[in-house]
Amino acid sequence: MNFQRREFLKFLGYSSLSPVVASLSGCGSVTKTNYNFPFQPIAPSAADKLILADGFKYEVLISWQDSLNKRGELFGFNNDYTAFLPLPSINKNEKEQAILWVNHESINPVFVGGYKGKTGQEKTKDQLTAERKNIGGSLVKIEKISKKGRWKVVPNDPLNRRVDALTAIPFYPPQKIEGKSSALGTLANCAGGVTPWGTVLTCEENYQDYYGESIYVDGQKKHKSKNNKFSWEYIDPRPPEHYGWVVEVNPLTGDCKKHINLGRFSHECATTVKDKKGRPVVYMGDDANDQCIYKFVGLRPGHLSEGTLYVANTKMGKWLELSWYKNKILKSNFKSQQDVLIQCRKAAKLIGGTPQNRPEDIEIHPQTGEVYVALTNNKPKGNYHGSLLKISESEEDHSSESFVATDFLLGGEKTGFSCPDNLLFDKKGNLWLTNDISGKSMNKSVYKEFKNNGLFYIPVSGSKAGQVMQVASAPTDAEFTGLSFSDDYKTLFISVQHPGELSSGLDNLRSHWPLNDNKSIPKPSVVTIQGEALDLLMS
Ligand code: FEO
Ligand code: CA
Ligand code: CA
Ligand code: CA
Repeated sequence: MNFQRREFLKFLGYSSLSPVVASLSGCGSVTKTNYNFPFQPIAPSAADKLILADGFKYEVLISWQDSLNKRGELFGFNNDYTAFLPLPSINKNEKEQAILWVNHESINPVFVGGYKGKTGQEKTKDQLTAERKNIGGSLVKIEKISKKGRWKVVPNDPLNRRVDALTAIPFYPPQKIEGKSSALGTLANCAGGVTPWGTVLTCEENYQDYYGESIYVDGQKKHKSKNNKFSWEYIDPRPPEHYGWVVEVNPLTGDCKKHINLGRFSHECATTVKDKKGRPVVYMGDDANDQCIYKFVGLRPGHLSEGTLYVANTKMGKWLELSWYKNKILKSNFKSQQDVLIQCRKAAKLIGGTPQNRPEDIEIHPQTGEVYVALTNNKPKGNYHGSLLKISESEEDHSSESFVATDFLLGGEKTGFSCPDNLLFDKKGNLWLTNDISGKSMNKSVYKEFKNNGLFYIPVSGSKAGQVMQVASAPTDAEFTGLSFSDDYKTLFISVQHPGELSSGLDNLRSHWPLNDNKSIPKPSVVTIQGEALDLLMS
């Protein structure tokens, strides 16, 4: 066992002599190949294809512009987070059904709306409407159509619906922000979470790309930033304070609310677990250089309407309360608790929140309860490949106010991945990871050897424990996002986001995925990954 693997096992709470490792070390013997494991990892690839290791197969479940219902709603662009929500069966002969929630994070004017102007030039109202309808999220009813477990979308099901940037969404608990009690729409929906009561949390990440951002000086709002990426504010301005929240969605009705108590920042994810008293605890990352990790502890089980927001000081191992009522520094810098929550980044830094290397996804280990955070990179600080951080809460309780943080698995040449983004543990506690090298950096310079973005499997036990094994390679310019398993762990749902993102026009396409015909436009899609190798890994 090399140093990296030994350290990795220690990091995960295992030792090389632990019974967990020893008892599973022979699991590769069931494979049909000579390779002592259910699959042979693939090498990085720069091809415009979704490549999988032998033993895995994929099928496109749903793509951008696919029809959802008879109201004319379509599946949106740049799908990201997915959440698999099983529906109860009424009788044994009924097909297994579920709702899949899917985030739509962003648009690309090359494909949506046809805007050709430079940033800051006016779009037409039709272009704006097309863009607004392509982000937010989709609720899609799916059903298992064969004994082998293939999943298909149920066309025109009454549960199929869109939430987009035109949906009126109230602030919760009810309050006015910039004079309004609701926002027009949700946007920049990156990752998310599922609550213990079965609702979805969808996270507004790079909200400043749409209506800009307010700049506050000495507590006073001075002006808005200009030249944001999508420039919606030039046609129909909206208060930036209406965005950057966590939105809770009822998957059966589509009802939404923006949770103000969870703070406003570039929300990557909202990973929710229960503490020892059954109260919800939501772990959240603020994905920007030098921003922080947060958690919200609900006051009572079953909802998020009251509770305490904390920011992590990972040097001291302390969760610091963001309370205007209790903290003199916050009281002297902000007018109210709502002000603290709206300017959460500033408040977090004032009380000692630790700047991180862009916190992305957060997942909880199913056996140890430890909290894993993907820190993707921090280029201005010379950190190009990122790392994984582990947070071990005191007393093994998610509502503890102290913890131990361990910086362990580093991206880079030795481990074979760079820029970790989405994480998912399977039922055995093995880690699945996707990476996000930005389109402009991919296949170049320090990122050259990693080639296209990928999906990686990191076993925590058995003969390959601690090794980073590439399972899949994404098409040109794309990123895998939104990993979720079906409840039987026979299907991995995964988003293929922004294939051909850097295409300069429809006559100069860089990707033709998923049709791979050298002429069609690329379409962001959700795919299902199944196969013998996955079954063996889960058996
Ligand atoms: Fe949308 Fe931080 O990834
Ligand atoms: Ca992400
Ligand atoms: Ca995740
Ligand atoms: Ca990312």
